[in-house]
Amino acid sequence: FNVPKAVNEPVKGYAPNSPEKAAVLSAYKEMWNTKIDVPLYIGSEEIRTGNTKNMTAPHDHQHIVGTYHLAEKGHVQKAIANALESRTAWANMAWEQRAAIFLKAAELIAGPYRARINAATMIGQSKNIHQAEIDAACELIDFLRFNVEFMTQIYADQPKSASDMWNRLEYRPLEGFVYAITPFNFTAIAANLPASAAMMGNVVVWKPSDSQVFSAKVIIDVFKEAGVPDGVINVVFGDALMITDTVLASRDFAGIHFTGSTHVFKDIWAKIGTNIHHYKTYPRIVGETGGKDFIIAHPSANPKQVATGIVRGAFEFQGQKCSAASRAYVPQSLWPAIKEQLITDTKSMKMGSPEDFSNFITAVIHEGSFDKLASFIDQAKKDADAEIIVGGNYDKSVGYFIEPTIIVTTDPHYSTMETELFGPVMTIFVYEDAKWSETLKLVDSTSEYALTGAVFSQDRYAIEEATTALQNAAGNFYINDKPTGAIVGMQPFGGARASGTNDKAGSALNLLRWASPRTIKETF
Ligand code: ALA
Repeated sequence: FNVPKAVNEPVKGYAPNSPEKAAVLSAYKEMWNTKIDVPLYIGSEEIRTGNTKNMTAPHDHQHIVGTYHLAEKGHVQKAIANALESRTAWANMAWEQRAAIFLKAAELIAGPYRARINAATMIGQSKNIHQAEIDAACELIDFLRFNVEFMTQIYADQPKSASDMWNRLEYRPLEGFVYAITPFNFTAIAANLPASAAMMGNVVVWKPSDSQVFSAKVIIDVFKEAGVPDGVINVVFGDALMITDTVLASRDFAGIHFTGSTHVFKDIWAKIGTNIHHYKTYPRIVGETGGKDFIIAHPSANPKQVATGIVRGAFEFQGQKCSAASRAYVPQSLWPAIKEQLITDTKSMKMGSPEDFSNFITAVIHEGSFDKLASFIDQAKKDADAEIIVGGNYDKSVGYFIEPTIIVTTDPHYSTMETELFGPVMTIFVYEDAKWSETLKLVDSTSEYALTGAVFSQDRYAIEEATTALQNAAGNFYINDKPTGAIVGMQPFGGARASGTNDKAGSALNLLRWASPRTIKETF
């Protein structure tokens, strides 16, 4: 098909006097001081409903950076109607044209929009510049470029023919529209969920997270400039339950592309089941949900490598990656060395506004998250079977700041070993070296989730044992590395069990869910 070869976007360094640092700081200042007003995007219309909410920065929650308009039921129905009206032209457009639009979107982010999308992610989601760069710039660009390549791989997969008979598979989009519900924690995922379905010829109703509207606006601007036709991706903000119920009530609802919490996804799945007789087709259900991601170290592991894996895996982006490590199992023999390193490394991480590039830790996303994390930290301070070895302070007077915190527990089923917290709180259980195999069973059985996990070991047999024992415990399994930072085209991403349908984002497996192929046999 001769599409441009997908290459991973190089990560920029943002060194002190670099031009990219100056560009992102200038975008940050401008966006911080200009209040934007984000409408609904339905068909060719930008609709200001007048019912608005403020957008604030998590690290400075009194600072209003803009407003966004909330949809009512009628707007959601209008978004569905516009999507359906746009469907025939979009579905019948040559795939090269659709691909070219998204390749152009990738280049717009790589170039003119890079500083803006990074700054929006730093302001609205409180990512530090390096976390913004690997997400809002690189991962987003990679999704768009690689998905085009995966699309061509899918189209190339054709059945056998004969001299008097031509058999072909036509990868049609789903009959109806796709609903995308996206999370706050990755700008790249927010863009990819509607874009991957749209690329395959589907029309979309997209509901971004209330905590990601600022960078969603930049994505919308990019898609428009790249040439996504009006009505192909319709954007509604507002009450998630009302929007979802309105979408699911449509006979033309053909699929959901979801990233968010397990209980919301299960509720949606149940509603789809209840409505199943009403739909024209069997809706595709694709979701990535919760996690309680683990790290286990074998006695042969390198203690420094383990400590780095724990600190980076648990605290990058304040532990709010779906892939973030939040429970670790460390052998007694290595514990003194690992503990010392963990305390040193954690204390060295500066906390504050992302505008200061030397801050590694910034604020957690909102007050609800802050309060939940603070209450678990308070409880750990009281519990006899838990000890906080570093961190444990928090302050929401200016922003939602929680110190990176490490709890050590003597109970492998202690609450923070099992509950998904989605913040910078790591819990460690120290096991007796002789109980390595038993501990693997514990890792596997402790959590209902299976998103990411990591094993650290220098012993080949131990690696093999862990890989086998934990085969259902993580959709993304890392050996001698932290469990975060999957790269598109290198580590397809997704989990099983209560973590999702495991339709690997950033792979042809995911794109295939957005096609309803037609087999054509023609005889001559
Ligand atoms: N690429 C993201 C990670 O693995 C989702 O952390």
